[in-house]
Amino acid sequence: MSKDLDYLLKEKRIFEPSKTLVDDTNIKKWMDEHDISDYDELLEKAEENPKWFWDDLARELEWYKPYEKTFEWNPPHAEWFLNGKFNIIHNALDRHAKGTNKNKTAFLWESESGNVRRISYHELYIEVNKFANALKSLGIGKGDTVSIYLPMIPELPIAMLACAKIGAIHSVVFSGFWAKAFQDRINDAGSKVAITADGFPRRGKLLNLKENVDKILENTPTITNLIVVNHADVPVKMEGNRDVWWHEIMENMDTECSTEEMDPEDPLFILYTSGTTGKPKGVVHVHGGYAVGVYSTLKFVFDIKKDDVWWCAADIGWITGHSYIVYAPLLMGVTSLIYEGTPDYPDPGRIWDMIEKYGVSVFYTAPTTVRMFMKFGEEWPEKYDLSSLRLLGSVGEPINPEAWVWYYKIIGREKCPIMDTWWQTETGMHLITPLPISKLKPGSAVKPFPTVKADIVDDNGNSLVGNGGHLVIKSTWPSMFRTLYKDPDRYIEAYWSSFENTYLSGDVARKDEDGYFWIQGREDDVLNVAGHRISTAEVESALVSFPGVAEAAVVGKPDEIKGEEVCAFVVLKQNYIADENLEAALRHHVRCEIGPIATPVCVNMVSDLPKTRSGKIMRRVIKAKVKGEPVGDISTLANPEAVDEIHKLV
Ligand code: WTA
Repeated sequence: MSKDLDYLLKEKRIFEPSKTLVDDTNIKKWMDEHDISDYDELLEKAEENPKWFWDDLARELEWYKPYEKTFEWNPPHAEWFLNGKFNIIHNALDRHAKGTNKNKTAFLWESESGNVRRISYHELYIEVNKFANALKSLGIGKGDTVSIYLPMIPELPIAMLACAKIGAIHSVVFSGFWAKAFQDRINDAGSKVAITADGFPRRGKLLNLKENVDKILENTPTITNLIVVNHADVPVKMEGNRDVWWHEIMENMDTECSTEEMDPEDPLFILYTSGTTGKPKGVVHVHGGYAVGVYSTLKFVFDIKKDDVWWCAADIGWITGHSYIVYAPLLMGVTSLIYEGTPDYPDPGRIWDMIEKYGVSVFYTAPTTVRMFMKFGEEWPEKYDLSSLRLLGSVGEPINPEAWVWYYKIIGREKCPIMDTWWQTETGMHLITPLPISKLKPGSAVKPFPTVKADIVDDNGNSLVGNGGHLVIKSTWPSMFRTLYKDPDRYIEAYWSSFENTYLSGDVARKDEDGYFWIQGREDDVLNVAGHRISTAEVESALVSFPGVAEAAVVGKPDEIKGEEVCAFVVLKQNYIADENLEAALRHHVRCEIGPIATPVCVNMVSDLPKTRSGKIMRRVIKAKVKGEPVGDISTLANPEAVDEIHKLV
């Protein structure tokens, strides 16, 4: 660590944004219009009167028919903008394509090899209309689901937007997952049409997608058609009646397509996320509330203005990409950058070079990326002119103060406040986050977004100050997920059954004496690997599906860059002899079943796993051993020898 960084860290300074920056922010202007003098007053007034706050923002979007009521909150169910008529695409696309933003760049795309595509709002509108008509020609209409498995190419947002335009529900699966994940998610969603690409480059090597999809489509009875984007010229085999090329189906399509008038509560998309059991949860978001929520947070948290070049360097396959690469920037009518490749390819200057080249003004990434660049050294960002940057953002996992200060100093040149935004797939939008007018403490996500009632509670639901506890939300917000797809009971059980009328986030956090929130991490059996949620149960079930494996336990192992890594313990079936290749085979198996991000860094063979007398695996004990922490109460443990064995291994 450099001396300066060390100094900044020890100083425990509160970082205040400059007056010039504050005076020019969207939120400050909004506060002036509403006679609000400071941040605390804003939070107080908004919490008292959420209807007033959200009505004012909802008015900035266009409604086919005005809503009659802002929200109805019967926990755990909320409805927003009742009895209105709305479509997110009318707001994200149609109104811009026909207005002053017509020729403005909507998406600025750069491929891994450096090719650039600038797609204006009008061009995007045409592509979306054509693709919406193509979907219709395959029998897709309102309420149908379409499963999408595409790399970071413009066809991915085009496909999403086209679905929404005609009232179909998209279900995007991260292309870094193995196709088996796509299969399970297609079957859960019951999709008729799937969309993929031939393949895509990763660090200069071509990866095949279509070939893998072909294998899983044997097990997806609802699929009638597969649309294939020719992206990388990877040779593929097209299946007679089922497969159609994207460019061929688009050829004769009409460039106009009417936008379906939707109820604001109609579903917009399903996005699967890891839960504590092996089966992923299909989080459902809707047109109206989701649009208002992501629009408002991009406007106030990242302070986006019409000439900004916004770069959210996430993958569209995750919620961060859905909300803040695709929907929110388009709703605001600004330019959103999409980068296909990895951030350090071909060298660690890649993203800094792109910031300089495109004049990026607001940049949003994950702490794992910041830590990776800390390792590469300051000389990389210092080669580039990063003076276009005004604000920085962080998301996906707790940002440690050291990484925060490095990001602030080396990337932001001590001028750009860092918005450490806490939120989840389920929340759709930022819930605990600074605003650009807030005083910042490195490592804290600051306070709830206006109107949001967040709290830290103990096991009995009592509020805590100073100590760690369950992070909960006690109010509704517009982009709240409405249910879990086809699983309303699990929606209640997983999120709303611990405390009355209260949303359980599954994270642990602490609130300090100034009311600042410090997120500590997950409390359930979900790992956070480089900002990606991985369910331990899903990895365990992949491990036990391998011949010879009887039992498996997966825990997170702390890692300096990725936050956590997957660490597995397996028990082999009796009479099964492990050969020297077994560990590698198991790692490969998980990689194929789930995807590279879930690959365990270590697979330890043990003769038994620590269990309670009733036979439950005590992951908590394994976790403590792996982290080198005290194991705590082990009075219910049936087999202490198992703990000793693990102790010797880690
Ligand atoms: C973690 C990503 C600390 C947290 C938007 C949460 C964070 C999970 C932060 C959701 C943050 C997200 N500080 N932890 N600023 N943001 N997390 O659903 O554990 O992929 O529950 O949504 O990421 O991950 P998800």
